[in-house]
Amino acid sequence: MDLGLTGKIALVTGSSRGIGRGIALALAAEGCDVMLTGRDEKALGDVVAAVGKLGRTAKYETLDLREANAPAALVAAAKRAFGRIDILVNNAGTTRRGDFLELTDADWADGYALKFFAHVRLARAAWPSLVESKGSLVTIGGTSGRVPIAAFTIGSSVNAAAAAFAKALADRGKTDGVQVNTIHPSYVETERLWRRIKADMERTGQDEAAVREWHRRDIGVTRFGTPEDIGGLVAFMVSRRGRWLHGATIDMDGGEVKGM
Ligand SMILES: NC(=O)c1ccc[n+]([C@@H]2O[C@H](COP(=O)([O-])OP(=O)(O)OC[C@H]3O[C@@H](n4cnc5c(N)ncnc54)[C@H](OP(=O)(O)O)[C@@H]3O)[C@@H](O)[C@H]2O)c1
Repeated sequence: MDLGLTGKIALVTGSSRGIGRGIALALAAEGCDVMLTGRDEKALGDVVAAVGKLGRTAKYETLDLREANAPAALVAAAKRAFGRIDILVNNAGTTRRGDFLELTDADWADGYALKFFAHVRLARAAWPSLVESKGSLVTIGGTSGRVPIAAFTIGSSVNAAAAAFAKALADRGKTDGVQVNTIHPSYVETERLWRRIKADMERTGQDEAAVREWHRRDIGVTRFGTPEDIGGLVAFMVSRRGRWLHGATIDMDGGEVKGM
């Protein structure tokens, strides 16, 4: 299926590893050139090489997106490098888990700085380019935004807020010609998931297979997701084939969320 993405320019945050890397590679495989970002220069260099093997060009900026000026600097760098932006994927995010009574103001501010305010700032900085290109914005949230849980108060509320922000922008996108959607992944095989499994192994004394099986049964899925799963949906969503999808919030979760 030709998705018509050849020559499009995509800016993907959190693309040094994990889901963002999977999205960047899926878009490059469909013909996009990619602006990458993260803080780990070596990992970003590896993604540039992987994109090069797909016959496309990637460039990167190392930035801490929690800093207020970083989003505008990133958008400016993408425009300098490629001349325009067709696709913005707001993916970078990390929020502290734990007992609500032990989480501090700093933990909350940190979670919101990266996974909410950076989304807002990136959308604001990139919007004129997206209007010009009649482009697309994709938010990567998380199923906790739909099914909040006590052990993940920051992540649950920030994912819901990010999805609500995207939905509001989708309303504006109808008049400005910018497509806006959200994907809520469930457990995806990334370093973040591995850190979580390792912490559970240490806490419970169980081996990796047992911890994985416990989590799999707990959320009621046949397997965890992969960065390629999420990348495939993003590529379809922003393509001409997926253009009618607008203002949607899609759970890509192997069936974890039971609500309609
Ligand atoms: N994996 C899952 O099971 C899962 C489930 C639901 C939702 N999600 C969501 O999916 C998104 C990606 O998660 P992931 O599992 O792929 O995470 P990951 O493997 O930990 O990767 C996180 C990415 O974000 C970047 N990043 C982190 N802090 C940053 C900062 N302050 N400034 C700039 N970049 C920063 C990292 O770059 P560096 O390491 O180079 O700094 C990395 O590229 C997140 O929004 C997460 O909430 C993930």
